[in-house]
Amino acid sequence: MADDYESFKVKVLGLTKIDLNAYKERQMKRRIDSLIAKHNYKGYDTYVEQLKKDKELFEEFVNFLTINVSEFYRNPEQWKILETIVFPELVKKYGNNIKIWSAACSTGDEPYSLAMLLSKFIPTNRIKIIATDIDNQVLDKARLGLYNQKSLASLPKEFVDKYFTKVGASNYQISDEIKRCVEFKKHNLLTDQYPTGCNMIVCRNVLIYFTEEAKDEIYRKFYNALANDGILFVGSTEQIIQYRQYGYESDRSFFYRK
Ligand SMILES: C[S@@+](CC[C@H](N)C(=O)[O-])C[C@H]1O[C@@H](n2cnc3c(N)ncnc32)[C@H](O)[C@@H]1O
Repeated sequence: MADDYESFKVKVLGLTKIDLNAYKERQMKRRIDSLIAKHNYKGYDTYVEQLKKDKELFEEFVNFLTINVSEFYRNPEQWKILETIVFPELVKKYGNNIKIWSAACSTGDEPYSLAMLLSKFIPTNRIKIIATDIDNQVLDKARLGLYNQKSLASLPKEFVDKYFTKVGASNYQISDEIKRCVEFKKHNLLTDQYPTGCNMIVCRNVLIYFTEEAKDEIYRKFYNALANDGILFVGSTEQIIQYRQYGYESDRSFFYRK
């Protein structure tokens, strides 16, 4: 079974360009095994053969692999720090020209939250956020901008009132004004070229799934993607213990400065 998984990883890389070697193995294999069992396939080989033929199964697989739960204002205490300390500082230094990259943005909740908060400081027509993810399905959902009530639960009411229209009983459509602030693109953190000159990179709740080696490489690449003084904002369980080894400084948890 272990050998099977080794050759499965090679085939998945060929099919999806996702290198499962970079993700923590025990956790990933357990997830994949349960998905395959749910569909009653006998093993990796028959499942892979079906993945090649069945577009829906393929999309489900990519979607499942990439674990894409998200929500607006995830961990609100950190967004308070953004509002009271980090954004005012960036605005003071760079005015309206702040380049922000939301890496592994999932369904858009994170980059749209950034745009709404930033709109308290600069006009929306000057806000530019690049938002990327490896998964086309979540990017389509992000571009659509339709969310359920649950994903908005932590978002301050002033933003819900200002930038959403209620659709039906429990869905909310984000405004075009905020949509225009964000450019969504497909990007694989493990293989694609990184943008440069970013004043802030937000990458939250994805590196937890990666091996130490993969994380190490990504922290270095983020460093190079940041402008001098740029800030890396990470998830609540993703403190970088050895941040100095990559060249970062840190005034407070979850925010690292180049
Ligand atoms: C749990 S979501 C995090 C979303 C958002 N950053 C947040 O904190 O709410 C993880 C996202 O990482 C993306 N992802 C996984 N592997 C990736 C990779 N190699 N390159 C880019 N994105 C990846 C997934 O598609 C998924 O949308």
